[in-house]
Amino acid sequence: MSKWREGRDSMGDDESQKQKNKKRKQVFPYGNYKSYYGYRIGQDLDEDPRLKVLRKEWFEDKECLDIGCNNGIITIQIAQKFGCRSILGIDIDSDRVKDAYWNLKKNVRLKTTGNKPVKAPKLQDKEQADDSGNSVTTLSNVDTKEISQEHPSSELVDLFKVVSFKQENFVQSWHPPGKQFDTILCLSVTKWIHLNWGDDGLITLFAEIWKLLRPGGIFVLEPQPWKSYESNRNVSETTAANYHNILIRPAEFQEILLDKIGFRTVEDITSGLTGSKTGFNRPILVFRK
Ligand SMILES: C[S@@+](CC[C@H](N)C(=O)[O-])C[C@H]1O[C@@H](n2cnc3c(N)ncnc32)[C@H](O)[C@@H]1O
Repeated sequence: MSKWREGRDSMGDDESQKQKNKKRKQVFPYGNYKSYYGYRIGQDLDEDPRLKVLRKEWFEDKECLDIGCNNGIITIQIAQKFGCRSILGIDIDSDRVKDAYWNLKKNVRLKTTGNKPVKAPKLQDKEQADDSGNSVTTLSNVDTKEISQEHPSSELVDLFKVVSFKQENFVQSWHPPGKQFDTILCLSVTKWIHLNWGDDGLITLFAEIWKLLRPGGIFVLEPQPWKSYESNRNVSETTAANYHNILIRPAEFQEILLDKIGFRTVEDITSGLTGSKTGFNRPILVFRK
């Protein structure tokens, strides 16, 4: 091997080592992982196992909020599978919100067979009545088969009108009193809020969710267990300090939501979950306001 070649190779090694170190050092203090679904769902599954236990009636034609949406994949899938009227995904990390919009565009592109107008999803019917003249996006391919089974083609809607994303720190934002939702999801987010903003942050999260729900509204909660806090407690000085001061345990969330926050009922839908990857066997609780 020539000297030049040796030199170039070793420079390459240095560079790739630097890249590896950079990757290794990347921390995600809010659970704002870049490739979350890569390791949560795996390649072998056709859909997130959680989608199988969620019920259509909680989402169909409903206004929904997904707190901590990460790259938006589950938000988009919920919109498609259950036919939300609208779903807003919010995340503290603006990069994840960009990823979410990227995924939304990719999804629409994949599913668009052309711009042949399809007759009348519910939303579209309204628009046609308003004479807006908007055309409808047609969906195709494998996923469409699934959607079509649940929503006849007459109900396919333009995803861009249904799904949106926003950067927001949910526990520190002011939510204007007017806006309310029918269904709110908070999946695998409580640990991050609890570690970053302590017991106060957690109670703020629950109280805000209750305020933002309409009477009869649904709150879908997937809390991480206490033992999993330990592996993430040192992601920042803040989380390390909060970890020691946290008094509330995830096992108490249900009681707090019912007795202190004011939810009327709870249903544990965990038993229907199958195929979750190791480390992601978490309960899913559904509360009604
Ligand atoms: C582990 S991921 C869960 C993603 C998704 N909900 C799911 O279960 O598939 C947690 C997400 O919550 C977001 N997050 C953490 N704290 C937040 C806050 N205070 N406000 C909004 N999003 C937050 C993180 O950025 C991250 O994307």
